[in-house]
Amino acid sequence: MSRTLAGGEVIVLVDKVGRRHRVRLQAGERYSIHSGLIQHDDLIGRPEGVVVTTQLGARLLAVRPTFAEQVTGRRRQTQPIYPKDLGAIMMGADIHPGAHVLEAGTGTGALTMAALRAVGPSGSVVSYEAREEFLEAATRAIVDTMGQVPPNLTLKLGDVYAGVDEREMDRVLLDLPEPWQAAAATRSALRPGGIVFAHCPNVSQVQRFFDCLRELRGFGMLEAFELLQRGWTVRGRSMRPSHRMVAHTGFLCFARRLAEDDLFEPEGEGFR
Ligand SMILES: C[S@@+](CC[C@H](N)C(=O)[O-])C[C@H]1O[C@@H](n2cnc3c(N)ncnc32)[C@H](O)[C@@H]1O
Repeated sequence: MSRTLAGGEVIVLVDKVGRRHRVRLQAGERYSIHSGLIQHDDLIGRPEGVVVTTQLGARLLAVRPTFAEQVTGRRRQTQPIYPKDLGAIMMGADIHPGAHVLEAGTGTGALTMAALRAVGPSGSVVSYEAREEFLEAATRAIVDTMGQVPPNLTLKLGDVYAGVDEREMDRVLLDLPEPWQAAAATRSALRPGGIVFAHCPNVSQVQRFFDCLRELRGFGMLEAFELLQRGWTVRGRSMRPSHRMVAHTGFLCFARRLAEDDLFEPEGEGFR
């Protein structure tokens, strides 16, 4: 990535209260906010991280959006996985370079893109989405963020509850209203030793998902956790927890596919 900002790319302007403004740079254009005007030409060719001043004297920091800002900072029709959970899912499900991942549903494409980054060019992601308009919106978001639909991503319009064609997958990622309805498809798709992840906003969904895995058999190491993210303000001598926090978003549920139609649930809590 170039050190300097170029016409055509999307940047974020951060104002003095921390508000972020997404701007696509175009030669000759102006961007106007309550604290004044910025000429795009004052940013094009300047290094990322430059601070520019509006004609009213307000200072704005210009940076490229992070991955988390790119995938969650856009208008959307369905709830993406929160950035605080995306990283934990990648580690918890051990999404590694070269892994072959099956996902449902695609939604906004946020989890899809996080998985693509983690598997790298030698891995692959197949993502099912039941609603055509969501699949189209996710395709646009992916092209916008990654420049194209990468050759190692297959987007499928389909109902994952009805079953999937994929076999010998390393990982299955489920973010669906009723993940237990995808348990049988997961069982056929995962290779022995593979990992399934399900995002469950409610604990009743966790219970039903895990009960279904137990009933089907062929799964073990059933685990669930949640992450609460408490930010801190760090301004001068003011060092304290923020007034607001990202508390409950969903329970992150994991299990491993066994080689036999068995069950394996250790009694201790273990540790992740
Ligand atoms: C909460 S969203 C997924 C969000 C996604 N993880 C993200 O990060 O943007 C749930 C998605 O599952 C899709 N869906 C629901 N039932 C489905 C099914 N049976 N098969 C495939 N997709 C389904 C919905 O249309 C919706 O887009």
